Amino acid sequence: LFSAVTLAPRDPILGLNEQFNADTRPTKVNLGVGVYYDENGKLPLLKCVQAAEAAMAAAPKPRGYLPIDGIAAYDAAVQGLVFGNHEAVAAKRVATVQAIGGTGALKIGADFLKHLGPNAKVLISDPSWENHRALFTQAGFTVETYPYYDAAVGGINVAGMLAALNAAPAGTVVVLHACCHNPTGYDLTDAQWGEVVAVCKAKGLVPFLDMAYQGFGFGIQEDGEAVRQFLAAGLSFFVSTSFSKSFSLYGERVGALSVVCTSAEECTRVLSQLKIMVRTNYSNPPTHGAQVVAQVLTTPELRAMWEGELAGMRERIKAMRGALVAALKAAGVTRDLSFVTAQKGMFSYSGLTAAQMQRLRNDFGVYGVDSGRICVAALNEKNLPAVAAAMAEVIKG
Ligand code: LMR
Repeated sequence: LFSAVTLAPRDPILGLNEQFNADTRPTKVNLGVGVYYDENGKLPLLKCVQAAEAAMAAAPKPRGYLPIDGIAAYDAAVQGLVFGNHEAVAAKRVATVQAIGGTGALKIGADFLKHLGPNAKVLISDPSWENHRALFTQAGFTVETYPYYDAAVGGINVAGMLAALNAAPAGTVVVLHACCHNPTGYDLTDAQWGEVVAVCKAKGLVPFLDMAYQGFGFGIQEDGEAVRQFLAAGLSFFVSTSFSKSFSLYGERVGALSVVCTSAEECTRVLSQLKIMVRTNYSNPPTHGAQVVAQVLTTPELRAMWEGELAGMRERIKAMRGALVAALKAAGVTRDLSFVTAQKGMFSYSGLTAAQMQRLRNDFGVYGVDSGRICVAALNEKNLPAVAAAMAEVIKG
């Protein structure tokens, strides 16, 4: 039965964890996967999460099946966070389903879109999160790219991006990173978002905003600018949400998919179809993580605590960006390193080639993705000197 089954390559991101775990060098550093570690190199358990869990443990509840679309209070809290108090929410024209992480949200959306427009193409940014292409391909789509990163200018090729979107046929699904672009860390300006929204509207494209890092750019509110502009333009669009990073709840798989519709009646029909996607994939979502997030987002003291802790993570990452630049300069790197501090979110797109990234891994035990992406959120004062020294060696050749 399985004689023709080929051996699949390791996952380009999570596969690195397997390699990292097998590495016996005590000095190894994992800058591969997008995970935030604190100043002691530890995965944080946020205080707001601990407080919510303590409250939940004090009043334990039985674990029946959740509704197919998840915990109602959670879905409502997600809508508040992503769409604020926009009229679309009050008018009940946003369909939100709890999902198994941001990836689960993308997959539910992809499956629904495949039913809606089986012949539509999907456009992702060049480059994009490695799993975007795999996930939409696996859902049956032909996946192509629109220009995004321009190595020559060290930023975004906005003209190329707009030209590609302009040339796309109506109904094309366009996957956009709402903030903290993964892997490059370069985000569109507000004015550039305006141009993207206008093309999507004029050409009848289907925007799918992946929002896995809300709060890691400038702030929770500030990072919602792209969503606000799509809302203001009156478009129908998709938003996937992840709380893996912002709540440090990676293993709980807490996410959501929201679909903005034109009316409450349309929204009811869309939600009924999303529920079929959930039901036929995994029946209904798990309880714990979403209950924690809902409790935090709807309890004012816990919410304030979370916002403070998220700001702490954001600020520490920023400080590490500055420290990395200083350390690389001190180690003799003369090239312009301003991109490290200009980029937003957890990652820095270092400009290193795949061969250089492999040398970093093999010779120095510093793990990053072959695309040149390193997770700045895993740097700390202790591992920084070794990482900077290794990067400097590799950059200087
Ligand atoms: C990443 O890009 O490293 C994260 O989103 C984790 C993942 O699932 O790939």
